Amino acid sequence: MTTISPSILNCDIADLRGELAKIKNADYAHVDVMDNHFVPNLTWGLPVVESVVKTGILPVDAHLMIENPDVWAPHYAEVGCASVTFHAEAAAAPLRLAKEIHKLGAKVGLALNPATPFEQFQDVLGYFDMILCMTVEPGFGGQSFISEVLPKIRRARKAISAAGVQVSIQVDGGVSRKTIEQAADAGADVFVAGSAVFGAEDADKEISALRSLAEGHCH
Ligand code: DX5
Ligand code: ZN
Repeated sequence: MTTISPSILNCDIADLRGELAKIKNADYAHVDVMDNHFVPNLTWGLPVVESVVKTGILPVDAHLMIENPDVWAPHYAEVGCASVTFHAEAAAAPLRLAKEIHKLGAKVGLALNPATPFEQFQDVLGYFDMILCMTVEPGFGGQSFISEVLPKIRRARKAISAAGVQVSIQVDGGVSRKTIEQAADAGADVFVAGSAVFGAEDADKEISALRSLAEGHCH
């Protein structure tokens, strides 16, 4: 199933509730947590994410671009995020962490930077609900899609099918009407779009347009 998860990174932060209301037809709100250590940018932490959860407008898809996710990620499940994604490059014990998050009732995503290989996780796919293939270097919205990541998405989709497990592939970074079809064609089924959605005249319409473009290429 095609899933659209707009990133609120570049929305009007002073009006989070109003901005969330603009994307009601999305499946999730993608909330980017940055700590100024794992990435050179700083956004928000647990209290803000908890407030977004509490609005009840959309389930929260938390993307943690932070060091030490082994300590912090479970708290995002505790405050009610529907899905918690941490970075493979930052986690000390990703399998233990995945189990811990699952126990707290959230879905688990494993994020891979553009140059991080997928193959090292091939045998442990069953621990995760989602693999996030970053299509920009994490840290900022509005960057352009790195198409060199597409073969990795293809290999990941093949490995997931071969393993017979139910794992989504999320793409994040530079996803727009121009790039979403390539990503869907390669095997992605969860699409994060920040500037494409919040930069559009009508966020609702943009989400529908992205969804139908992706659906035309779904596997
Ligand atoms: C980048 C973030 C993305 C980003 C998406 O580090 O993880 O979620 O904000 O924004 P766009 O769609 O503008 O690339
Ligand atoms: Zn993100």
